[in-house]
Amino acid sequence: MLNTEHVGKEFHTGNGKHITVLEDVNIEIPSGKLVMLKGRSGSGKTTLLNILSTLDVPTSGKIWFNDKDYSLLNNDEKEHLRRYEMGFVFQSVALLPIMTAYENVDFALRTAGIKNNRDKLICEALENVGLADRMKHMPSQLSGGEQQRVAIARAFAHRPQIIFADEPTGSLDTAGGIRIVLLFSELIEKYGITVVMSTHDMGLVEFADILYELQ
Ligand SMILES: Nc1ncnc2c1ncn2[C@@H]1O[C@H](COP(=O)(O)OP(=O)(O)OP(=O)(O)O)[C@@H](O)[C@H]1O
Ligand SMILES: [Mg+2]
Repeated sequence: MLNTEHVGKEFHTGNGKHITVLEDVNIEIPSGKLVMLKGRSGSGKTTLLNILSTLDVPTSGKIWFNDKDYSLLNNDEKEHLRRYEMGFVFQSVALLPIMTAYENVDFALRTAGIKNNRDKLICEALENVGLADRMKHMPSQLSGGEQQRVAIARAFAHRPQIIFADEPTGSLDTAGGIRIVLLFSELIEKYGITVVMSTHDMGLVEFADILYELQ
């Protein structure tokens, strides 16, 4: 579903200097799998996720999403991909604090331009993450793990093909992290989606279908 070939990324750091963060990254992400990226802090996990999800462009190399070559897409086409085919979960959950769990998911669907069937999609997404009885709760009335599950419901409600999750368990202990990872596995089994997540929790990597290490 998503492939890279010789992807590299350099950042310019001023006064003519640059640092190489990614070099010759060749990965294959088949559909319907839980793919993990592990690596120490600073190894380039976020940088790679941003490139895989079109939020950033590589300095060299190619990326294909279902045979679409990213380098041939314009900004509108990339935005369309992100809105309809991709879902995002970030380390800092960033739920809107003045909205309930239900409203947070609804807000994401509206932003994605989804007009029909929103109530059904919201309820199904929250049911799928085990929060059917917490829909009216404000984020402050939810535990850290529950907030993270709302963030997953929000990333998933519009039924993307692929979810990118950057350290989605970063604020949880290993037990809480395992529950999130098992939830991803359930969504994969039920809906055939693909999940790419980064982690540095070694207690989670055994749950990956495919594990890549950034060095
Ligand atoms: N915009 C930027 N300009 C310059 N350097 C950057 C930029 N973004 C990231 N870097 C550098 O690239 C390296 C990789 O950063 P990245 O955020 O991808 O690491 P990471 O593996 O996600 O780390 P962590 O586990 O701490 O989140 C770091 O050394 C960082 O300082
Ligand atoms: Mg990171």
